[in-house]
Amino acid sequence: MKPIRKAVFPVGGLGTRFLPATKALPKEMLPVVDKPLIEYAVEEAREAGIEEFVFVTSRGKTAIQNHFDSHLELESALRAKGRDTELSAITNAVGSPGQFAYVRQMEPLGLGHAVWTARNFIGNEPFAVLLADDLIGGSSSTLADMAEIHAEHGGNVIALMEVPPADTARYGVVAPGDDDGRVVEVLDLVEKPDPADAPSNLAIVGRYILLPEVLDFLALGEKGAGGEIQLTDSMARLIGGAPFNGMRLRGTRYDCGTKIGFLEANVALALERDDLGGDVRTRLQKVLDDHRRDG
Ligand code: G1P
Repeated sequence: MKPIRKAVFPVGGLGTRFLPATKALPKEMLPVVDKPLIEYAVEEAREAGIEEFVFVTSRGKTAIQNHFDSHLELESALRAKGRDTELSAITNAVGSPGQFAYVRQMEPLGLGHAVWTARNFIGNEPFAVLLADDLIGGSSSTLADMAEIHAEHGGNVIALMEVPPADTARYGVVAPGDDDGRVVEVLDLVEKPDPADAPSNLAIVGRYILLPEVLDFLALGEKGAGGEIQLTDSMARLIGGAPFNGMRLRGTRYDCGTKIGFLEANVALALERDDLGGDVRTRLQKVLDDHRRDG
């Protein structure tokens, strides 16, 4: 089995849930503690051995391109001052020339359309998709774990987690077959089903390893849930033609597409930091105590 070399990052969304913060700033650049959301996904992909990165962007997203580019002036200023920690913090994100590519989605027609927009970059090999909104905490790279499952079983692999049954309409949902507690056979996929119609409460988290054949189905441009071209619908058409497995998530997933999930991620990741965790705990406790007193 060949390793997965390419990853697609759909970053074309308007980020309306975070207005006014996202009026002039891409939501993917919002910091979780001190690093933009998108960088967590890029790091996870790097740890999985990804060598080529394509961002499916839209108007107003150039800050993402600047972030993954060199900033020679800032680098030399930091170097001159001996600020090595900050220097490596800004150079870590930068790839080698040609490693990062950007394509414009042009119209917000859905996640499936965004992935299809990257087709010329993907070519004819299995590839990864990472949704930066889903920040996954924990020590290992989720995509690296999925790549191991792909190496063992072949075919398609998606990340899964259990959600409250009432929440299925927010996710792609799986009809599970064989299930060893870690790897789950996928028998069917439904995008955003009402709880009454959901085949289970096992939901798709935004990490995918897909065979290039999915692009043939995406090319048909058929609209699904919410009138959008859904990735889930084209993935469902791959089932039966090649292995299709889900991997239950080990780490915690923070839904940074919502305010509450974004705030939770900031608190949780700050608490984990050696340089911040103790202070954050003390201050949070004080904030909670003050609020309790006030009211
Ligand atoms: C997308 C996918 C959905 C998946 C979710 C995970 O939905 O369409 O299948 O469960 O990401 O975050 P969105 O959150 O873009 O509506």
